[in-house]
Amino acid sequence: MELREWAIRILSADTLEEKLLSPNELTDNEPGQPLVFTEPTRPSGMQFKRHTSREKLPAFHEHRHPDKRAACLHRFAGHELLAVEIMAHALLAFPSSPKHFRKGVANTLREEQEHVRLYIARMEAMGLKFGDMPLYKHFWAHVPHLSCPIRYVSVMSLTFEMANLDFAPMYGKSFARAGDEASAALMQRILEDEISHVSFGINWLKKLKKPEESEWDVWEKSLPPLMTPSRAKGFVLHEEPRRKAGVPEEWIQKLKKA
Ligand SMILES: [Fe+2]
Ligand SMILES: [Fe+2]
Repeated sequence: MELREWAIRILSADTLEEKLLSPNELTDNEPGQPLVFTEPTRPSGMQFKRHTSREKLPAFHEHRHPDKRAACLHRFAGHELLAVEIMAHALLAFPSSPKHFRKGVANTLREEQEHVRLYIARMEAMGLKFGDMPLYKHFWAHVPHLSCPIRYVSVMSLTFEMANLDFAPMYGKSFARAGDEASAALMQRILEDEISHVSFGINWLKKLKKPEESEWDVWEKSLPPLMTPSRAKGFVLHEEPRRKAGVPEEWIQKLKKA
């Protein structure tokens, strides 16, 4: 299947099976003209809900309750599904970007689909079905800003996925403290994949930027007007996964102070 057809099917899918469709063989011979979806189609029961403050993520001290941990997993699965759709957006919006870049986005997209499956399996084992809780538009609100590959890697890989280098280990640790080894192991798996997704972003930022610009400066100016660098970290910044991802030392130290 062509990347373009795959991405269109993902964004137009009204079933979860179609959102998670992952053909064995993908080709990229006809990337076509740029195509931008203003919003993805969603399976019934998975449409975007308006976010209210009542629907906060459970606090860390509540993680001893399995239903609260399952609620966290539900939220994370929602983020993964958004990542799937935003990567499909990148495949459709940047048909003339380097083939190697498109291939990397496609590989990452497959891993995000797997993350959705893994979260669903774990939350179902805990008695919660995907779609039982509200799903939000979150990252999708920034899609109009993702008008070129530099902006895409800056927002997706180097802000949202970068922040997960803090959130995944923080939640993993907390789930382990609650005695939930299965959920902790899942967060560890997510962290490992996320390191490679951030690494993809850094590598392409380096290739796409002008040689005289610093990585940090290009990243910062590529964020949407209301998004600050602090969105790229949790309340504890984990340096080690960032180093593993190849984030420059200067960036890590600047982000710490952001
Ligand atoms: Fe993911
Ligand atoms: Fe990711």
